[in-house]
Amino acid sequence: MEMLRMSGISKSFFGVTVLDRVDFSVGTGEVHALLGENGAGKSTLMNILAGVHTRDSGTVVFDGHTLEHITVQSTEHMGIAFVHQELNLFNDLKVYENIFLRKELLTRLGTLDKRRMIAQTQELMNRLGVDIDPNATVSELETSKKQLLEIAKALHAEAKLFILDEPTTALNNNEIDHLFKIVRGLKAEGKSFIFISHKMTEIFTLADRYTVLRNGQMIGSGAIAETTPTEVTRMMVGNSYSDADFYEPRALGEPILELEHYSGNGFEDISFSIRKGEIVGFTGLKGAGISELMQTVFGAMEPSGGTLKVAGSPIAGDIHNAMVHRVGMIPANRKENSVLPDFTLLENNYVSEHTLSRKRPVIRKRAERQRFERMRGMLNIRCNGEDDLITSLSGGNQQKVILARWLNTDADVLLLDNPTQGIDVGAKAEIYKLILELARRGKTLLVNTLEIPELQKVADRCIVFYHGSIHSVLRHEDITEENVMLAATNAAGVAQERAVAQ
Ligand SMILES: Nc1ncnc2c1ncn2[C@@H]1O[C@H](COP(=O)(O)OP(=O)(O)OP(=O)(O)O)[C@@H](O)[C@H]1O
Ligand SMILES: [Mg+2]
Repeated sequence: MEMLRMSGISKSFFGVTVLDRVDFSVGTGEVHALLGENGAGKSTLMNILAGVHTRDSGTVVFDGHTLEHITVQSTEHMGIAFVHQELNLFNDLKVYENIFLRKELLTRLGTLDKRRMIAQTQELMNRLGVDIDPNATVSELETSKKQLLEIAKALHAEAKLFILDEPTTALNNNEIDHLFKIVRGLKAEGKSFIFISHKMTEIFTLADRYTVLRNGQMIGSGAIAETTPTEVTRMMVGNSYSDADFYEPRALGEPILELEHYSGNGFEDISFSIRKGEIVGFTGLKGAGISELMQTVFGAMEPSGGTLKVAGSPIAGDIHNAMVHRVGMIPANRKENSVLPDFTLLENNYVSEHTLSRKRPVIRKRAERQRFERMRGMLNIRCNGEDDLITSLSGGNQQKVILARWLNTDADVLLLDNPTQGIDVGAKAEIYKLILELARRGKTLLVNTLEIPELQKVADRCIVFYHGSIHSVLRHEDITEENVMLAATNAAGVAQERAVAQ
């Protein structure tokens, strides 16, 4: 049985064709992965289905009904729920108010029934297994909680079809597992899902079928069981893709980043010494403290003890000082922390370089343009030009601009927190090459990631964190899924505690 059929869908923005006669269908009780490179048109196709954009041509049949004029309200009414790629919450409202927005429950007297709304929100959170206070104001929530709230809001809609546009970018592995369990449960009840993700493991664990878009065209569709990650990747990026391993060991220099008994919010007693030209992967589960450690090293948070030395000189916490010592950082969660929304691509690109090299108070537009063009080619940033507003780019292309911003600087030490979030496989490979190339040129890179293949592709060493401390340090050749997971979950420690207890 078919839940959705979109046929011959075309759309252009300002004369640029973004979708070209796309056919797309989803069965009842099916998880359908919608795949494609950054800018391929996935979010646009979903925005057409959800009434955010109007199509130029084509037909949409949902649950047996032909949909003529689609509006956001009419799709909600028909039973389509949408978890947007970019968070779509009202920050000034409370959690429960977001859930019940435009669907407020009323008492018999016609006043808002806060008690019932709060109780139902709590139930919803319990079902999702997340700890979010229904009464909290959204702006106070950390990004992962906001993403979970966005998902909760969609689940609350009791829809027939759920669109999940990169729902897991801010979630940790436990939260992802939990979400997948819920999806499977709803699927068993006959609900359908459209699932957009750039993480192959997620696609191959969760999806039943897939459709690949490339440059706004439908390239192919089929059963996940009958394909492989390499095959769908080829469909996404064309035949140019190769899954080659570019890692090669390099001669390393002097210690450049040294931490001794370094403590702060979320981590404790961290000591390590990282050498010039080294690439070190950081990984760990929720509460491991890695983002906090990176932010503290960068001077965005206060340390509570220990020492931090960059190139032999102790530095103490403020961002400007860190930047003067040539430390740069790409924070996690692009939209909240990095994008300057009202600025153009060029401005978003040079902002850090400009701050870092204080010698150059004047922005030399021509030189900046050339640098931007180089990065645009290298990372395949899909845009009309440097004067575009950053917010008109697809999610993954925005991330590439942020990445380019820091790769553009002369920083010697780069802290990369989840750098390939939302970036497609082809561009990921380019970013890995770039990281290795920077290391060859003597830059030192710290990469926080949950993706083990990413660690395997670039890291000389991998430091696994557990509850704010270093659990183990793996050499390049020892970075395997099994070793990382054993360390990240402290499996040996838990087994030992059990043995002692018995
Ligand atoms: N409102 C808009 N105005 C102008 N161009 C737009 C707009 N929305 C999307 N585009 C363009 O349409 C193309 C497709 O974007 P879309 O967001 O659908 O990509 P995507 O497949 O979701 O990519 P990603 O994986 O990076 O999220 C891009 O080139 C993008 O710049
Ligand atoms: Mg998108």
